[in-house]
Amino acid sequence: MKSKIDTILIIDFGSQYTQLIARRIRECGVYSIIHDNRITLKKLKQINPKGIILSGGPESLTGKNNLKISKSILISQIPILGICYGMQLIAATFGGKITKSKKQEFGSSIFTRIGKSKLFLGKKISKKFKVWMSHADKVTKLPRNFQSLGSSTNSEISGFSNEKKKIYALQFHPEVTHTTNGKQILINFCKNICGCSKSWTTKNKIEEIISEIKAIVNNDRVLLALSGGVDSTVVASLIKKAIGKNLCCMFIDTGLLRKNEVQDVEKNIKKGLKLNLITVDAKKKFLKNLKHVTNPEKKRKIIGETFIRTFEEESKKLKNIKYLAQGTIYPDVIESSSSSSKSDVIKSHHNVGGLPKKFNFILIEPIRKLFKDEVRKIGRELSIAQLLLDRHPFPGPGLAVRILGEVSKEKINILQEVDHIFIEEIKNANLYNRISQALSVFLPIKSVGVMGDQRKYNYVVAIRAVKTNDFMTADISEIPYKILNQISSRIVNEVPKVARVVYDITSKPPGTIEWE
Ligand code: XMP
Repeated sequence: MKSKIDTILIIDFGSQYTQLIARRIRECGVYSIIHDNRITLKKLKQINPKGIILSGGPESLTGKNNLKISKSILISQIPILGICYGMQLIAATFGGKITKSKKQEFGSSIFTRIGKSKLFLGKKISKKFKVWMSHADKVTKLPRNFQSLGSSTNSEISGFSNEKKKIYALQFHPEVTHTTNGKQILINFCKNICGCSKSWTTKNKIEEIISEIKAIVNNDRVLLALSGGVDSTVVASLIKKAIGKNLCCMFIDTGLLRKNEVQDVEKNIKKGLKLNLITVDAKKKFLKNLKHVTNPEKKRKIIGETFIRTFEEESKKLKNIKYLAQGTIYPDVIESSSSSSKSDVIKSHHNVGGLPKKFNFILIEPIRKLFKDEVRKIGRELSIAQLLLDRHPFPGPGLAVRILGEVSKEKINILQEVDHIFIEEIKNANLYNRISQALSVFLPIKSVGVMGDQRKYNYVVAIRAVKTNDFMTADISEIPYKILNQISSRIVNEVPKVARVVYDITSKPPGTIEWE
C-alpha cells in the first residue's frame, strides 16, 4: 500500500541516532518510516517516499564487513540525504574515496560551508557553525559530479552534493541538538528538496497508536505495568481510549521508590485518570533478591525479572490477561539494544533489556518509538494534568540504580530523605520545571565532617541535575550556589547519616544520567 501522506524513509545502518532522525522529521511535521538496509526496490516503491535519509552507523567502509545498500535505491531519483556512514556510503557507491582518518572526530566541531546548496537555504544558516561529529573514516575524494559543501576541523570534505540529482551527504549529525543549524537543514531537506508538506501531527500519532492497540488486542484484557510516571500514565490513557475497561492497571511497590510515591501515585491515577489501580506490596521480595548484589547490570536484570515474575503471580489472580503493556520509550530501547542491533549496549533499562527471556504475556509497548517530550505532547493532547506530565522521569529500577553497591533498607531510607529535600528545594526555588531531571545518589563511602563540636564520620551523597530534550544527550543544569548551599545544609542537618554532599557536573556523554 502506498503511503497516503508525504513520507521520508530512513534507512538504518545501526546508528544510535536513527530514531532521533525519525523524531526530528516528525518535528518538521512530516511522517517517517525506518527500514533496515536490506530494503528492495519493490518495497521502496510500495512505501513511495518523497525522500530517503541514510543513517549513520558503527561500520566502516574501509573494512571488510560493512553494511551496503542496493545501488538501485540510490539511483531511484528520489532525493537522498546521507548522514555520517550514510555519506560515506554515497561516496563509495558513486566512486569517491574513503580513508581511515588519523584524527578521529567525536563531539563538537566547526563546519565551514562553501558554495550554494539548497540544504543550507535561508538566512538562519551562517557560514560557520557548530556541528556534532562521530567518525573515524573520512571522504578524501569526491565522487564525479558532486561538489563539496564544506569542511570541518579534521576533515576537508565534511559534506557534498549533486544538486541536480538531489543527493546530499553530511559527515556531521544534523539530528543532534548540539548541531547548531541541524533542524533547519532537515527542514530544508524535507520541504525545499523533497517537497513534503506539513501533514504529521500529535493527533495523527494518537490515532495511529490507538488503532494499532485495537488491532493487536481485540477483545482481550491488558495488564498495564503502571509506575505513575509520565510514560506509563500516557500509555494508560491511550489504552483506555482503545479498549476501555479491558485495561487493568497494576502498580508494584518495589520499595525502591521515592518518599510518599505510593500514596501520590494512587491519588493521581485513581482520582486524576479515574482508572482502577491494584497496588502490590513487593518490597520484601525485591530487597531479598537484591541482597549481596553490587554489579549494576546484574541489579537491573534482577529487578526486571522480579518485576515480571511479580506481575505473573499477581495476574493469576485476575482473569484472562493475555497482554502486558509497558511505558517503554525509545531511549530505554536504544540504550538497552541487544546483539540483534548494531548499536552497542549502554545499559539494560529494566523494562527492556532487563526482561527475562520467557514470560507468560505478550508484551505491548505503544510508545516504544517515541521520545520523552513527544510523550508529554501526547499527554497534553489527551488532557492529562500538567502537574503529572511535568514530573521528572524516574527509572524503573528506582533507587537501586542510585545506590551504588549493595542495596539495603537503611540506604533506601537515607536516599529517600535526601531526594525529598533536594526536590523540595528546587521546587521552592522555582527550578523544577527548568531542570529536565534531578536526582540524588547514595555513595558507599564515608567521609569525615564536623557538626557542633563533634567529629562526624558518615555517608556521602551526590546530587545531580540535567537539562535535556531527549535524554540521549544531556548538559548539566546549573543550580545557583546559594540554592546548592541551602540544599547541602538541609541534607546534612536533616539526614543524620549523611556527612557530605557533592554536586555532579558531568554531562552525557561521557556520563549517563543515572550513576549505574
Ligand atoms: P541514562 O542513565 O541511561 O538515563 O542516561 C536516560 C534516562 O532513562 C532513565 N532510565 C531508565 N528508565 N528504566 C527506565 O524506565 C530503566 O532501567 C532506566 N535507566 C535509566 C533515566 O532516569 C533517564 O531519564
